[in-house]
Amino acid sequence: MPAPVPAPAPADVTVDVRLTPTDLRAALRRDARVGLTATPKWMPPVWFYDDRGCALYDQITRLPEYYPFRTEQLLLEEVAEQVVKVAGSEVLVELGSGTSEKTRLLLGAMDRVVGVRGYVAFDVAEATLRSAATAVSQDFGIAVHAIVGDFHEHMAAVPDGGRPRMVAFLGSTIGNLDRDQRRGFLAELQSLLGEDDRFLLATDLVKPVDRLVAAYDDAAGVTGEFNRNLLHVLNRELDADFVPDEFEHVARWNPEGSCIEMRLRSRQPATVALPVLDLAVEFEAGEEMRTEISTKFTPEQVGRELDEAGMAVVDTWTDPAGDYLLTLARPVRGGG
Ligand code: SAH
Ligand code: TRP
Repeated sequence: MPAPVPAPAPADVTVDVRLTPTDLRAALRRDARVGLTATPKWMPPVWFYDDRGCALYDQITRLPEYYPFRTEQLLLEEVAEQVVKVAGSEVLVELGSGTSEKTRLLLGAMDRVVGVRGYVAFDVAEATLRSAATAVSQDFGIAVHAIVGDFHEHMAAVPDGGRPRMVAFLGSTIGNLDRDQRRGFLAELQSLLGEDDRFLLATDLVKPVDRLVAAYDDAAGVTGEFNRNLLHVLNRELDADFVPDEFEHVARWNPEGSCIEMRLRSRQPATVALPVLDLAVEFEAGEEMRTEISTKFTPEQVGRELDEAGMAVVDTWTDPAGDYLLTLARPVRGGG
């Protein structure tokens, strides 16, 4: 008789759904109506991340050209214990947690240094979030509180556990927000931090343009598929009739915004029907729609934006090549 397979430890997971599939569809309708009737056309990046989009992002993280994921992971392997010692946090909160892969490095370090009391994972992608929360709870034997929400709208859903928290925002996801969105996001985050809470921010740094462009326009074309996934989402959710292969992936450096801009360029003139919105959208040959920015920072710029939001830098860490930055910050109250 084969030995019985040991049952996995029971998962201790609570899920707080602030965005139901119905809410998401309503928000997508709103964004598509605004973005596809604007000149130039644009769409917010949050719509990349359905199940297929999350799987494509996961593939991107393993591409040779996409240095940010690997660099952040190596850096965290190196410094997670220092970060946790300086922060002294017992609870980890993570915004845009995805598969929580790099999070494990922080949780492991917390476990060794202070003892980890809990993990709050916040993401818009419900299925990815649920499976990550279950796996982390089982592997670390901790309670995981998962929040399905939009961090532009539902940040107040993050519970105050009465213990010092570290709020982590990894993956340089902050770079996908424009300057105004970053201002709003950081100010709201600051208002949620107690005196002993800390904010850990990961940012990709400015570097030669050819490396930046290659990271967002890989030879295997995975990033192009990820970009075009937006069109698949619009087709499925809004009954639109985009022909994704008629749209070319474009990644271009914008020096004014210090960001890579991702666009979809219509190869031919096209009329796209969005019957759910009672809308027909015209594309000229060569017309581009902006789908994403990925801002590249200097350490000074990160410090400035945190300062403007009422936070002070406690410590920073970079990889040996100076490609990537981790910043630990604390809230500053009453002007000092
Ligand atoms: N933190 C992971 C994943 C980064 S990809 C890493 O470092 O690799 C960005 C993640 O943020 C995705 O999981 C996506 O679903 C989530 N996300 C994007 N926009 C969001 C929003 N507005 N609100 C909440 N989550 C969002
Ligand atoms: N936060 C990641 C970044 O800006 C997200 C990302 C990676 C991404 N590759 C992408 C977004 C390609 C759009 C397209 O690097």
